[in-house]
Amino acid sequence: MPELRLRVNGEEHVADVPVGTSLAQVLRERLGLTGTKIACNEGHCGACTVQLDGVPTLSCITLAHAVEGEVTTIEGLRDHPLVQAFVRADAVQCGFCTPGQIVSAAALVAANPSPTREEIRHRMAGNICRCGTYPRIEEAILTWRD
Ligand code: FES
Ligand code: FES
Repeated sequence: MPELRLRVNGEEHVADVPVGTSLAQVLRERLGLTGTKIACNEGHCGACTVQLDGVPTLSCITLAHAVEGEVTTIEGLRDHPLVQAFVRADAVQCGFCTPGQIVSAAALVAANPSPTREEIRHRMAGNICRCGTYPRIEEAILTWRD
């Protein structure tokens, strides 16, 4: 099995992983980082979003061996103010989409700390919430620094 080297949340990891394994599988099954969720597993829903060098990336359709650069998962964002903003805004219902939402939102506010509602809708469009908490997610992002 080819050796895989990954830098995740500031830590280096080395593992033997079959070619063709997705980044989401490696994060969850080999590294125990189960905050990254797999729902559609086809690149449609955003539940598996992580950051690659700060860019939101769908880890279910990203081959682990193709990854270069730093991976940031929801575990690496546990102290980000957005986490408390989601709690304050009550932006979580079942919570399954929430890690991916926060990972995408963190990239958004890093690029633009004061996004408009329109910008939030545009940049967060790839993160689906089956519970329909979109207004509260928008509120959390609008008030993330409060
Ligand atoms: S699980 Fe990756 S996009 Fe849905
Ligand atoms: S809170 Fe349930 S899918 Fe978003």
